[in-house]
Amino acid sequence: MGNRENNKSRRVVIFTGLPRRFAPRNDKMNQAEEIKSKLDIVEVVREYVQLKPVGVNFTARCPFHRERTPSFVVSPERQIWRCFGCGKGGDVFSFVMEIEGLNFIEALRQLAPKAGVQLRSYNPQETSRRNRLLDAADLAAKYYHKVLLETPEAAGARQYLQQRGLKPETIAEWQIGYSRESWDDLFNFLKTRGFSEQEIFLAGLSVKKEQGVGYYNRFRGRIMFPVNDAAGNPVGFSARVSPEREATERMGKYVNSPQTQIYDKSKILFGLDKAKNFIREAETAIVVEGQMDALSSHQAGFKNAVASSGTALSSDQIKLLKRYADNVLFAFDVDAAGQIAAERGIEQALGQEMNIRVIQVPGGKDPDECIRNNPDDFRQAVEAAQSVIDYYFGRTFRGLDLNNIADKKQAAEKLLKVTSFIGSTIERDAWLRRLANALEVNEQVLREVLDKRQRRRPDKTRAVQPKDAAVQPNISHNQMLTESLLALALKFPEHFSYLINNISPEMLTEESQRAFYKKLVVYYNTIESDSNLFNDDSLKSWLGNTIANEEELIGLQGLLDTLLLLADKDFYEMNASDARLEIGKIINQLKRKHLIKKMLAIERELAEAERRQDAGGITESMEAFKVVADEVRRIEE
Ligand code: UTP
Ligand code: MN
Repeated sequence: MGNRENNKSRRVVIFTGLPRRFAPRNDKMNQAEEIKSKLDIVEVVREYVQLKPVGVNFTARCPFHRERTPSFVVSPERQIWRCFGCGKGGDVFSFVMEIEGLNFIEALRQLAPKAGVQLRSYNPQETSRRNRLLDAADLAAKYYHKVLLETPEAAGARQYLQQRGLKPETIAEWQIGYSRESWDDLFNFLKTRGFSEQEIFLAGLSVKKEQGVGYYNRFRGRIMFPVNDAAGNPVGFSARVSPEREATERMGKYVNSPQTQIYDKSKILFGLDKAKNFIREAETAIVVEGQMDALSSHQAGFKNAVASSGTALSSDQIKLLKRYADNVLFAFDVDAAGQIAAERGIEQALGQEMNIRVIQVPGGKDPDECIRNNPDDFRQAVEAAQSVIDYYFGRTFRGLDLNNIADKKQAAEKLLKVTSFIGSTIERDAWLRRLANALEVNEQVLREVLDKRQRRRPDKTRAVQPKDAAVQPNISHNQMLTESLLALALKFPEHFSYLINNISPEMLTEESQRAFYKKLVVYYNTIESDSNLFNDDSLKSWLGNTIANEEELIGLQGLLDTLLLLADKDFYEMNASDARLEIGKIINQLKRKHLIKKMLAIERELAEAERRQDAGGITESMEAFKVVADEVRRIEE
């Protein structure tokens, strides 16, 4: 009953279709029925949860609430689903609406291509802005792809991709593209296709001019990797500097789409749309760092690979993977940054009870280089992947002398910290037992230390509590700086674009502040005028309209109140130009702190490399250190 052969027909972009007056009034309803009749609910649900057959039905653990025993049931016969734990249920549309956070029309659009149904009438007013932005991103991806394949300007990029071993089929399948060295080509193209300047901007494709009015292309002279959501819709881009400019480029090797209504970097995994079925089949996902690593992996037959795009995996990304499998293999770069990112991701995955193994990439620096050098090396490394417990113990004990008390303490510190992240009690037990053996200490002692530590650790699941931030005596310096920065931003919206261009959410270390800032960026990107943006009720009601989770909403609105109060208290008499100076200072401080944290991490790596007399590791850490130190110096100048 499923309609797999049609799955390949990707989401169809229909701009006008039939004139509306020809479409029957209840057309949407008929189309919904048609789509339903052509889809198998089991196939659709399976894309999100692991279903097990039980009698005539299928069951799973409910994706909408936490539970240990499955009470979520899908009936192929009736084509409905229901959870007997949380009471939710319905048809294929309500399922997709619920799990993707879509409205009915959006769900219709998402399911239509899967069912091989062309939506006949398409009324732009009816569809949400989100859909318009998805269309803009989709069209941009097609445009960039065509530019790569057909224009003389892209000759260098074409040759480069070929040199890096990408086959034409791969370039086509992943819709790799090229952005011209132009300030407005894409911008104008999208305008001729009916998108407003505002929409192009909201899709993250243009940048507001800092001086004057208007916009220009965000991506120029770069190789474009479309970043798709799990359903295969382009939602953003990762743009690699073109080879000719690599040595001189100051914007960074990769430039990424900003946070938008359709793109949240922490909730997307590059390549997941292509990898998901293979992940399910293999019951395992391979996680690599970079776009090129993912592409090379797929080309070499590791089709269950996804990329985290250079950062540690977030808990949302782990949740995404968990929809398809419980096993994950990490293959991060061997450099210091890669290892740190791997560890963070592993901690997240441990918390969500994933089975984790770690691939030691041999030869090259990253999976891409390793595969290009010899795919069999990578295959062997995948097969030889270590269990996460072996990986951590090996890593921690390397270079330590366990007869030495200080070393023993250091090892215990590190491993207990990781153990405290583990969600499964059985696994936690295994770690404790192994640690006790290795250190020759009493297991009970370790258990007590761990208990104490966990009692101290603030409950991460607690909702954002902004009031705490104001009264807490031991609020960190970083948090205070961020508070001032956000308050200034609210009071002086004219400096907000400057702020966005200089502070990325990752630089804010405190969870609730980071969440708030992300929202602010999205909000800023949804409104027309820059003046009087934030200090009225519109932001608050916007939050109310866009956030469904009540706890989260209360937390964010509370933080907004606190920040507005703080702005009035601390910056009441400040003028705009002083505010700009102050914002600049705080940005530098935050950047500096961010970089220094990086340096400390590299220093630890260096110490470890020295202890084990690993010359390669030492050079590598030193080089990494130098890069970061240079950045710090630049800020301090
Ligand atoms: P790497 O620096 O390891 O690059 O960054 P790479 O994947 O080996 O790239 P190539 O092989 O030189 O083309 C890994 C990933 O981190 C992100 C990108 O997603 C990249 O693929 N990244 C890197 C950024 O977002 N910005 C940067 O400036 C650099
Ligand atoms: Mn690389």
